[in-house]
Amino acid sequence: MHALTPWRTQCADWCILVVAMLEKIDQLERQAESDLVAVSTADELERFRIKYLGSKGAVKALMGLMKQVDKPQKPAFGQGANALKHKLQETFAARKDELVAAGPQASVLKQGIDVTEPGLPPRLGRQHVISQTINELAEVFGRMGFDIATGPEVEDEYHNFIALNIPQQHPARDPLDNFYLTDPGQQNPYLLRSQTSTIQIRVMETTPPPLRVIATGRVYRPDEHDATHYSMFHQVEGLYVDHDVSMVDLKTTLIQFAHAYFGAEAEVKLLPSYFPFTEPSAELYIKMQVRGQWQWVELGGCGMVDPAVFEAVGYDPEVWTGFAFGLGIERLAMRRYGIGDIRWLFENDVRFLRQF
Ligand code: FA5
Repeated sequence: MHALTPWRTQCADWCILVVAMLEKIDQLERQAESDLVAVSTADELERFRIKYLGSKGAVKALMGLMKQVDKPQKPAFGQGANALKHKLQETFAARKDELVAAGPQASVLKQGIDVTEPGLPPRLGRQHVISQTINELAEVFGRMGFDIATGPEVEDEYHNFIALNIPQQHPARDPLDNFYLTDPGQQNPYLLRSQTSTIQIRVMETTPPPLRVIATGRVYRPDEHDATHYSMFHQVEGLYVDHDVSMVDLKTTLIQFAHAYFGAEAEVKLLPSYFPFTEPSAELYIKMQVRGQWQWVELGGCGMVDPAVFEAVGYDPEVWTGFAFGLGIERLAMRRYGIGDIRWLFENDVRFLRQF
């Protein structure tokens, strides 16, 4: 339940630079070690020397970076770079001795493999923080009795808009606000789904009520990228259909979820809103830090399922009631893990990702 604070949010620019440079020294050392293991002839050994220890080699280039390092950080960086240089000189000399001892044309490989030598430890990967968040959501909502549903990312206009009571002239259907895959003028064209609410329809088309499901997945909108917007993001959709479901059930579910997932101290609020597929509708907000500034951020929309949606899927709106919600998963992860900018999630910088 406790937010981690990534080094990016703590460090000044020089700190990021020094961490990056020390990382570079590590990488260089690992690369040189693996190259040297593969060296088996005098020619290969000479190529190794030129690549790493030559006058235009990698160690020289590393030393050249010293200029960019802030004065107080110079000793740490200089020590790291010098230690690498000496280590490479020593391992190079040791390998040279081995090859000389084996004769001028010798291949070390011909002498067999020393199975007693320690191996190079493989680097372990990990799940992306968004995948971790998706698993956590499944667990929290699972404890509240929600099953998991799925739906396709390539959708037709019927499931993305029409069955959700979104009329032709609604701005959300503008071709410029969607990624259409076929001609938007044709009958029921395909597009990359712009919301996971499509899965509400797909579930109700195939499942008789009552039901209680969540669905997670990618959605796509040609939004401009900033600290809280991306053109590909993930949503978690929730749908609960039963007799006598009320707005109180919706509010209780969302507030309980927020406190279970973020901790009891998380500040959340619901404000009235409008969605064509829910009536009444609301938006869930949470107080969180974006690029270091505390602010109210919209987590998602919600409301009571509109009778028109029930009619579209063949449920009797006189008998069944329900609520639905759709929350942005990136923003949930940002709040939970103290990530100040959505773009960091997709830069694929392993130094950032391996913190989670
Ligand atoms: C919807 O997508 C509705 N389908 C939600 C809904 C479901 C309402 C069920 C009622 C019933 P909205 O467009 O507001 O609503 O998006 C929901 C959330 O997705 C936003 O609050 C935000 O957290 C996230 N989101 C929207 N656009 C972006 C974006 N470009 N980048 C990152 N997250 C986004």
